[in-house]
Amino acid sequence: MRYSKITGWGKYAPERILTNQDLEKMVQTSDEWILARTGIKERHIAGPDETVSTMSLAAGRDALAMAGLDPQDLDLIIAATSSPDYLTPPVSCMIQGMLEAPRAAAFDLGAGCTGFVYALATAHQFIATGTYDNVLVIGAELISRFVDWEDRATCVLFGDGAGAVVLQASDAPTGVLSFALGSVGSEYDALIVPAGGSRHPPCQETLDKGMHHIQMNGRRIFKFATRTPAQAAVQVMEASGLSADDIALLIPHQANLRIIEALARSLEMPLEKVYANIDRYGNTSAASIPIALCEALEEERVGEGDNILLLGFGAGLTWAAAVVKVGVPQAVSWPISWPLASLKDRSFSSVRSVAKAQLVFWRL
Ligand code: ACO
Repeated sequence: MRYSKITGWGKYAPERILTNQDLEKMVQTSDEWILARTGIKERHIAGPDETVSTMSLAAGRDALAMAGLDPQDLDLIIAATSSPDYLTPPVSCMIQGMLEAPRAAAFDLGAGCTGFVYALATAHQFIATGTYDNVLVIGAELISRFVDWEDRATCVLFGDGAGAVVLQASDAPTGVLSFALGSVGSEYDALIVPAGGSRHPPCQETLDKGMHHIQMNGRRIFKFATRTPAQAAVQVMEASGLSADDIALLIPHQANLRIIEALARSLEMPLEKVYANIDRYGNTSAASIPIALCEALEEERVGEGDNILLLGFGAGLTWAAAVVKVGVPQAVSWPISWPLASLKDRSFSSVRSVAKAQLVFWRL
């Protein structure tokens, strides 16, 4: 049986930070309201020269460096996003060119905020079937350019960023152990950018009506998000033969702290076992889970052998859950590195530096 092990990870967040206090000067809102209703304190907003492709490149390069994988050896790049640089070409192809990964097939995957988990499951299929060995999975969004900065109901929620993981074929039972994907298409208009697609191509009228902005029915999504994803979580734990006690960390999509807490309650998971960084990022849509995953690994909230439960939900409406077992980065098993036994005591951050150092060594 072939497994798909996570051997590298990386993230990128734009330098510019927009705080709740900044927003108080832009729309009729308050730090208290935003914090109490969403858990958000600040979010990163892309600068004029940043795009989904540039942010993905940064996250993707870090993930590849940690995996010790040359971009030339990539078989596939999947970019999960709802805010690509262009309607066409696919942003994944731009990333493939920028990474100089000529062998890699590339496609975009659109499943709203759930996109990264969908992409992880898709990449896993290519590896499990023996089609590909090395896949780069990216979740990246630049939602701030689709937000109506005069609409207080939506503009306080979103942020920009990118996260990426390298999945590599492995015989050991690590990486994606199980997944469940779904959608409730009848609710497609609960979160929508009405214009810009083929139904309402951009024109003066769509611009005048603000139809190129995100429109959201927050209450409908809230209701959905606090119920359906938890059922998916139970499904994937059962499929992996695990209970909530066997999960070291739940990493839910970071849309609203109240949703995260409600999910933890229905799964009977203590909050110590739930990762939340929404206070610093806001909702980065398809980038939220990979960014959170990177941070959880960097902060050593999880380590080798731990089971992580990823839980996504978003536009579509879509939902997805996956159980992922953490493996160590591939590079540490190379013969020039320390004996494997000594690595057991080393932290993930030192493993990361070693992986990078080895990459440099190999390139010299
Ligand atoms: N500041 C101050 N007041 C506000 C703000 C604001 N920024 N936004 C809304 N309000 C007001 C409303 O006008 C309303 O006032 P009213 O009672 O006088 O009419 C009041 O606050 C309550 O509004 P609600 O919409 O009922 O507030 P709620 O508690 O539902 O919180 C929120 C709104 C935060 C949007 C919540 O519904 C939510 O998080 N929903 C889920 C959204 C989500 O997850 N979206 C992402 C989906 S994932 C993807 O694919 C991108």
